[in-house]
Amino acid sequence: MHFSTIISALALAGTTLASLNTTREYELRTQLKPGQEGKERFGDLWLVASHTGAGLNDAVLYANRSYAIKGFENATNITQSDGQPFFNQLFDLGGTLPYDLNVAAYANFYAAWEPVRIDGGSGSGGFFMNSSGLQWNSDPSGPAGSNLFGGWLVCDWWHGVPQLFAKWNDYHYESPCSCADVDLLPVYI
Ligand SMILES: *[C@@H]1O[C@H](CO)[C@@H](O)[C@H](O)[C@H]1NC(C)=O
Ligand SMILES: *[C@@H]1O[C@H](CO)[C@@H](O)[C@H](O)[C@H]1NC(C)=O
Ligand SMILES: *[C@@H]1O[C@H](CO)[C@@H](O)[C@H](O)[C@H]1NC(C)=O
Ligand SMILES: *[C@@H]1O[C@H](CO)[C@@H](O)[C@H](O)[C@H]1NC(C)=O
Ligand SMILES: *[C@@H]1O[C@H](CO)[C@@H](O)[C@H](O)[C@H]1NC(C)=O
Repeated sequence: MHFSTIISALALAGTTLASLNTTREYELRTQLKPGQEGKERFGDLWLVASHTGAGLNDAVLYANRSYAIKGFENATNITQSDGQPFFNQLFDLGGTLPYDLNVAAYANFYAAWEPVRIDGGSGSGGFFMNSSGLQWNSDPSGPAGSNLFGGWLVCDWWHGVPQLFAKWNDYHYESPCSCADVDLLPVYI
């Protein structure tokens, strides 16, 4: 039980989805990056939240779209070089509180990749979209070139279904055979 997370989730209790702009919701689908023969099972999967504790989820992927979670953007006050804001990647999991994509929950930047979480009240911020889908800037307020994000990795892992990881681009290890490199593309609903 993580008391700090529970406290931050409770602190958010005044922030309801009604006060957020959920007009343009989407589901996130994996698209296999080219050159990965034999890994087709990791493409065309939908992002799902797998409950791991109060206000905590691991980001996993299912083939069946009916479990896909509904995402939306909440602009932050930090802008990209093109003047567009970075956003928090929020999800409507059906309750009154938004959940946040948390790329650095484990904050182990000495590893080459780490699991991604979907937590109540504690996200990473620094997200943006381009034509390759959802991207993360690890330090949106930092100098250009400070981005450690090296893409999304999907692996057979501890929930018995494919699970989402973020790669750090300081490392150039080949992805394990039980994993695939993917893009996460928004499919608007
Ligand atoms: C809500 O989001 C939509 C789509 O991104 C945008 O067109 C609209 O201006 C936003 N509304 C507010 C109040 O920010
Ligand atoms: C997807 O899940 C829904 C809900 O459990 C179920 O009704 C449906 O049959 C599933 N579809 C497939 C193709 O398995
Ligand atoms: C969403 O953005 C609004 C306006 O910037 C801000 O007041 C609110 O705290 C944000 N909510 C979350 C959950 O980040
Ligand atoms: C942006 O928002 C954060 C958190 O709400 C605040 O600490 C910071 O001062 C704001 N920065 C600007 C430039 O408004
Ligand atoms: C999208 O952004 C990522 C991260 O900065 C970058 O690696 C990728 O090349 C970009 N994709 C396109 C199509 O510009």
